[in-house]
Formats: sequence, structure tokens, C-alpha cells
Amino acid sequence: MKPVKLGLIGVGTVGASTALVLKNNAIEIARRAGRAIEIVHASRKNIAKGMPDGCADIKLTDAPFELVDDPQVDIVVELIGGYEPARDLVLRAIENGKHVVTANKALIAMHGNEIFAAAQAKGVTVAFEAAVAGGIPIIKILREGLSANHIQWIAGIINGTGNYILTEMHDRGRDFDDVLKEAQALGYAEEDPTFDVEGIDAAHKLCILSSLAFGIPLQFDAVYTEGITRISIEDMAYAGELGYRIKHLGIARRTDKGIEMRVHPTLIPDKRLLANVDGVMNAVVVMADKLGPSLYYGAGAGADPTASAVIADIIDVARTITTDPQNRVPHLAFQADRIVDIPVLPITEVSTAYYLRLRVDDIPGVMAEITRIMGESEISIEAILQKEPETGVAQATIIMLTQKIREAQMNLAIDKIANLETVHGSIHRIRVETLGDD
Ligand code: HSE
Repeated sequence: MKPVKLGLIGVGTVGASTALVLKNNAIEIARRAGRAIEIVHASRKNIAKGMPDGCADIKLTDAPFELVDDPQVDIVVELIGGYEPARDLVLRAIENGKHVVTANKALIAMHGNEIFAAAQAKGVTVAFEAAVAGGIPIIKILREGLSANHIQWIAGIINGTGNYILTEMHDRGRDFDDVLKEAQALGYAEEDPTFDVEGIDAAHKLCILSSLAFGIPLQFDAVYTEGITRISIEDMAYAGELGYRIKHLGIARRTDKGIEMRVHPTLIPDKRLLANVDGVMNAVVVMADKLGPSLYYGAGAGADPTASAVIADIIDVARTITTDPQNRVPHLAFQADRIVDIPVLPITEVSTAYYLRLRVDDIPGVMAEITRIMGESEISIEAILQKEPETGVAQATIIMLTQKIREAQMNLAIDKIANLETVHGSIHRIRVETLGDD
């Protein structure tokens, strides 16, 4: 069979590794794909950096639009990231009848509906396994492995940089900025690292997972997003005393009222496997009605793990090149005409338990006032921790765990408590999930 010819856009961390793995594992890859797969054309912004050692024979330009117009290219592999020019390049590749493999979560989350419609019309495939959770084949799991099930919820650690920062803070008491610099140097962080620490990268990925899980359109703007910048080592220690770890989770849940899509720091019981996913590792728990819970764990960022997912997609596409487009696996798991626009709930309508930390005057009656407001707001308190004031200080720290309550109701109670004269500063709130069977 004729070799499948690739055009590679972007020769950065993941692009270089993809080129090298395709060369070094060429025989094994051909055994799986049933034909050779070779890069015939590559492009990178700074052409002076060249191709990685061992790939110097590949034609390299700094003109990606020429690459997507190159008639010999069967599959365009887009590894530049970001919204533009990635969107234009991918749409032009599709227009030219080429298949596309991309690791670009921002592109899929933001422009996926448009891109898949164009691909559908043209009968080509756009594959994006590497866009979520690096090397973990979670897209394939949701799209194929669990296709008999109703998916009930997904909870995942889907940003390696954020998890690395939280782990280093927790285990070694290291400084946030210091760990972030290290993650950047290791090639884990996004070009703009605020995407990692403010939860935007995780929100891109959660938006994609939700669409695959529930058969809904991609709607990045509907994901509630909160980053990790306000998590302190102090909160990690208090959570630990109560038997919890703080993790930055992406959570998607199907409820009777609509779909929840949210990314935020979350207390989870420390006995859960997810609580023990550390460093740059990612993990996703999927609760499915027939399988029950299943957990997918692996490297969520980094050159070779991401290249592993990119190349798995290339092999999948190579295998389907000769099949009828109607019989291929649908881009978003469900047939394009069966995607349903189920409403997405605003965060105020989401119910979770809460961890609250507040600073109060160390005088009698303060706790009674706080618990009165909680009672009037119909919020049950699960646990209370009071920390003795430091010597010479007249204020104490109180930590409370509540039972599940609608966020709008909790917001009102927090406002009332914050207005008490005996309460000082802002009230720190972190949502709590038990990740049990419900
Ligand atoms: N910046 C991302 C992360 C890279 O840290 O998870 C993989 O998508």
C-alpha cells in the first residue's frame, strides 16, 4: 500500500517528538497501520531552528499555508496551538480534502462545531486525542469504549502544570511562582501560563469531554472556570486535617435540570484515587451507568506522551482513509444530527458541599452567630475546626465543612456572615466533592 504522507505544522516540544517517534518507531507503526507513515513537509515559525536531529531530510518551510495546499499531503498535523492561525489552517486543510490531526484544545473547544461541520461536509476526519489529558486515550474511551453507556459524570485532573504546582506546594511547601517556572522549563505549561493557573486550559478540555460524554455542542463559554492562584498551603494543611486533599478538578455532570460544567479547586476525600494523582500526571474518572466508575491515569503533558496520542490519531486516520466517511467514528461521539442542546446550568444552580475558612474575633458568642445564619439558610454543618489564635492575636481561624447546598444559597449565607462585625477579611470558600456513586 502507498505510504500515508503527513504535513507537520509546528516543530516545538510536541512536534519535534512526533517527528522523532514516527522515525524511530516507523516499523512498529507500519505494522499497526498497514502502511508506512512519513512526514513529507513540515513548517515552523523560526525556520533557523531546523528539524530535530535524525529528521533533517524532511522539507521544512516557514509557510504553513503552502503546506496545507501541498497536494502530496494526505494528513495535516497541526501542533502550533492557539486560535489563529490554527483555525484558518485547519479549515483550509479540510477545504483541500485533507484529514487533520491536532493537539489543539483551545481550537477544538472554541471552533470545534464549525470545524467538524466543515469536515463532515467534506468527508474528512479531524482527530484530537492529544487535546485532552496528554497521552491518556480519554477521547477514544468516551467515543468508543463506553459507547453503550449513559455517562453520568466525569471528574478529572486535566491540567498537568496546575497539578504539578499543587503537588509541590502540598508535599514540599514550595512557592507557587517557583514551581510554575519549573513547569515552564520542562515544557508542560502553555505559552501563556495563565491558561494553566487560571483554569482556562482545563476548561477547554472539560468542554471537549462534556460534548463527547453527553452529546451536546461544544460550548466553552458555558464552563464555569476558577484557577488555583488563591489556594494557599494553609488551606491544604486544614483540608488534610479533615481528611481531604485539594485538587484542581474539571467536573461535568448530567442532572435532571441540565448539564454542569465547572473547573475549580475542589476538596476530595484523601482516600480517593484521584486525590493521590500527583505531579504532572492527569487522571479522569468516568461514572457510566453500566460500567460504573472507571479511572484513566497517565502523563497529561510533555513531549513524548503527547506525541503518543498524536501518532495514535494519525494511525487511526491512516486506517480509515479508504473507508466510507459515513461509517467512521463520529467526531463528537454521537452522530452529527443527533447532538442535543441540553441546557448548561449556571454555577449558582450547582449544588456542592463547601469548605469555608474565616477569621473571627476570639470572643464568646461568635460561633453562635455564625451557626445561626447557617441554620436560617438551611445549611447543615458537617465539621468545624477552630484554630487557637497565635500568641498576642485576638482573632481565631475557623474552618467549616458544610453539607451539599445550592451555590446561590451559600452565596447569600457567606455575604451575611462576612457582614458580621466579628468576622474579618474575606471568607475563603472551596467546593467539596465526595466523588461517590451518585
Ligand atoms: N499546559 C498543559 C498542561 C499541557 O499542563 O496540562 C497539556 O495540555
